[in-house]
Amino acid sequence: MRASLPGRIGPLEVRNRIVMAPMISNLAQETGATDEAHIAYLAARARGGAGLVITEYTYVDGLNSRGSRNELGAHREDFVPKLRRLTEAIHEAGSLVFLQLVHAGGKAGWNTNPQAPMAPSALDYGGHHPREMTAEDLDQVVESFRRAARVGALSNFDGLEIHAAHAYLLHEFLSPALNRREDRYGGSFENRLRLVQEVLQAVRREAGLPLGIRLSLYEDEADGYPPEYGVQVAERLEGLDYVHFSAGRFAPPGSSASFGYPALHILRRLPRRPALPTMVVGSVLDANGVEEVLEKVDFVSVGRAMLADPNFAWKVMHDPEGLRPCIRCNQACRDLRWGEVRCTVNPDTGHEAECPPRRPITGPIAIVGGGVKGLEAALQASLAGASVTLYEAREALGGQLLDLPEGAKRSEFLRLVRYYETVLRRREVSFRLKTRYDGDAVDCRPDRTYESLLARRPSEVDSPIYQHLDEALELAREQKVTITEGSLSALDPVRAHAFREEAVRRGISFHAGSPSPEAFSCGGQRQYDIRQAILAGRRALDEYLRGRDGLPS
Ligand SMILES: Cc1cc2nc3c(=O)[nH]c(=O)nc-3n(C[C@H](O)[C@H](O)[C@H](O)COP(=O)(O)O)c2cc1C
Ligand code: SF4
Repeated sequence: MRASLPGRIGPLEVRNRIVMAPMISNLAQETGATDEAHIAYLAARARGGAGLVITEYTYVDGLNSRGSRNELGAHREDFVPKLRRLTEAIHEAGSLVFLQLVHAGGKAGWNTNPQAPMAPSALDYGGHHPREMTAEDLDQVVESFRRAARVGALSNFDGLEIHAAHAYLLHEFLSPALNRREDRYGGSFENRLRLVQEVLQAVRREAGLPLGIRLSLYEDEADGYPPEYGVQVAERLEGLDYVHFSAGRFAPPGSSASFGYPALHILRRLPRRPALPTMVVGSVLDANGVEEVLEKVDFVSVGRAMLADPNFAWKVMHDPEGLRPCIRCNQACRDLRWGEVRCTVNPDTGHEAECPPRRPITGPIAIVGGGVKGLEAALQASLAGASVTLYEAREALGGQLLDLPEGAKRSEFLRLVRYYETVLRRREVSFRLKTRYDGDAVDCRPDRTYESLLARRPSEVDSPIYQHLDEALELAREQKVTITEGSLSALDPVRAHAFREEAVRRGISFHAGSPSPEAFSCGGQRQYDIRQAILAGRRALDEYLRGRDGLPS
């Protein structure tokens, strides 16, 4: 298996070929300093077997480079002691760790930076127009990256990754559509690469660490650049130890494609093997996906699947059937405007520093309900030592997920049911299907019945809309649909703008104000239905045990 072979990045040996992709977690402090929750979250993925962990994008100055509210910062040397704690924790787990550095450019937060956003050209960024950068700004950016690289080196990071993808500042310079400058930094291919090259030189000279770059292989927009352009950029830049290909500018499917898009969608568009060590990311969900990527390039980079299962890397190599799967719902993990990282299928993500010890359970335990709620209760009971029997009235496990209409969402979401079935069978949980049970049991029947949005055909939707593909877009194929403005509130302004444009293109309109009583409405956290079901299963088990042991609930 290729995944378990050591790989090389510059002078470094990486213990295997599986890399944790950079993912903003909002787990750092408001100041940009790391803390226990953040360290525990990353260290869990290192303990889970990743050969290399790449931190989330980390801002480089205290002016206008920050993209998210509780983003990690590398702009202050007094952050070094706590950052060393982070690198120490990951090294102890046997992984290497690289620091990803970013200037968010035109996508920088308007409320989270002392200064207003700036970009190569004053174009439309989600309804905002960042100012055009001056020559002094360009020098300042190079200097900020240099200083942040020093913080990285002092903090014992093994390498640095410069973020030049996803329409952040350096990508903006590389992108013919976003860079309309007529000075030495725009106009020709060489000129568009100039700022990135200056940053790479400054960073390498300062830190002397292995150095990589994250690039969007292609942009999805009609005026976006094609994959061959992404490869050419990687090969033309000097001083790189690797390239890390992601994809996208503002609009879907970008890199975090949802269930409506095929797996490995970025690999499929890689035109050829680049002439430098290469990582590719993008909907790598299981061991087969890992191997397929590694047939073509040197490293596989995995994002959301490591949020769903922190032990992804180890399981790919030793227990591929036991992976808790990412279902590409783009819900809990992408609710980052105000939230910390979470995962719909794994309630422990983002809470690694808090996980309390499990209370042992002895003897038999019955669970009624074979939906996600009951399956999770069964798993927790079994892990705690109980001998579990699960009763389900229907002839198959899966509960309301079985009622989803046929299609990509159904098949992706049912992978979660298959996971539970596999691990529960291994743990010798016995299933009694087509059986009603009225005895003493943990009640995991549904709290409310699933009403398919598509079946109800409401004309108005008031429910958090996440990335790329929501049922509202499906509904709009056949009828008029209105979405409340509030539905976009969890998205950052650029994503909200891109989603709105996509929706309007499909004939959907938006309205401000309160939803009508007929609107399809989940509201707030309610849209994470699967996460709520998993948590409800854990709660139901806990309450049952308290009742059984005579403890107050
Ligand atoms: C919650 C979340 C946060 C992300 N933050 C970053 C980031 O800080 N830097 C970055 O380069 N990409 C970021 N990405 C993109 C991922 O690195 C990755 O390219 C993308 O999720 C596709 O990989 P996957 O299909 O394995 O999730 C983020 C993705 C997610 C889901
Ligand atoms: S929230 Fe959904 S898309 Fe995100 S990591 Fe979890 S399962 Fe995957």
